[in-house]
Amino acid sequence: MRPDRRAGLGQGGANRHPGRGLVRSRGAGGLSGRRDLRRRRGSRGGAAVTAPVLEVRDLTVRYGHVTALEDVSLTVGTGEVVAVVGPNGAGKTTLLRTMSGLVKPASGGISIAGRDVVGLPAYRVARAGLAHVPEGRGTVAPLTVEDNLRLGALSENTRETDRRIAGMYEVFPALGRLKRRRAGLLSGGEQQMLVVARGLMSQPSLLAIDEPSMGLAPIMVRELVGMLRRAAETGVGVLIVEQNLALATQLADRALILVRGTVRASGSRGELPADLLEEFLA
Ligand SMILES: Nc1ncnc2c1ncn2[C@@H]1O[C@H](COP(=O)(O)OP(=O)(O)OP(=O)(O)O)[C@@H](O)[C@H]1O
Ligand SMILES: [Mg+2]
Repeated sequence: MRPDRRAGLGQGGANRHPGRGLVRSRGAGGLSGRRDLRRRRGSRGGAAVTAPVLEVRDLTVRYGHVTALEDVSLTVGTGEVVAVVGPNGAGKTTLLRTMSGLVKPASGGISIAGRDVVGLPAYRVARAGLAHVPEGRGTVAPLTVEDNLRLGALSENTRETDRRIAGMYEVFPALGRLKRRRAGLLSGGEQQMLVVARGLMSQPSLLAIDEPSMGLAPIMVRELVGMLRRAAETGVGVLIVEQNLALATQLADRALILVRGTVRASGSRGELPADLLEEFLA
C-alpha cells in the first residue's frame, strides 16, 4: 500500500533536522519529495548519504555493579531502519532509555541529528529530534485517539498540530477511522499503531521503538511493518529493538545482535549468518 502523495508527516514546523530539511526543501513537503530522497539514496539498505540521525559511540552503562552496556556503537541514517536484536537482559531497553536521557551513561557519546544529547533531560532530547516509544504502549486511556496524537506534537501551535494530525490520517487511514474512540478501548495492535503515530507527531529525526511486536498477532505485526516502513520512507530514521527476529529481518535495512551488553554481530539484511543468529537467540 502506498501513502497518498498529498499527505505529509512533516509539513510545516521548524526546519531543524537533516531528514526533515531535505524533505521540506523540495517544496510541497509531502511524501513525494521524500520518495525522491529514497531514490537518491539508491536501493533499500544502501548507506545514507546524509549525516546519521543517530550516532552512538562506545556507550557504557552501569547499574551499580551490573554492566548493562559495554562499548556499544551504532548509527542510523536518514530514512534507515536499524534493528537491535537480542535476548532478555541484553541491554536493549537500557540502550533506548539512555538515548532518551532517562539513564545516565558511565561513558560514551550519543548524538541525535548531529547534536550531542548526553546529559540532557528527556524533554530536551525529544526536542532534539528523538521520539522514544517505550515498551508497553502507554496510551492515555481516557483520551480519544485524536487527543493522544495531539499530545505527541510537543507543540502549542494548534493549527500546526491539526495539520499534522490530518497528515497522519492520510498516511495511516486506519487511525482516522478510530479518531474519536477512547484509546483505552483500542486493541493491542491499534494501540501500538497509535503510539507509533503519536511519536511521529513530533516530526522526529529518529523514532526509537521498544519491542513493538510483543503480544501482537501476525496480521498486526504485518501492519506494523508497513507503518514503520512508511515512516522511514518519509525520511525518519527508525531504531527498533526486538526479540522477534522475523520482524527485525523483514523490516530492517541493518541489524545488530546485542548479547549481555555487547554487540556480537551486525550486518545488512541477508548478511547475518543464520547459525550465528540461532546461536545467540535460541
Ligand atoms: N534500573 C535497573 N537497575 C538495575 N539493573 C537493571 C535496571 N534496569 C535493567 N537492569 C539490568 O540491566 C540488564 C539489561 O536490562 P534491559 O532491560 O536493558 O534488557 P533488555 O534487553 O531490554 O531485556 P528484555 O528483552 O527482557 O526487555 C539486565 O541485567 C537488567 O537486570
Ligand atoms: Mg527490554
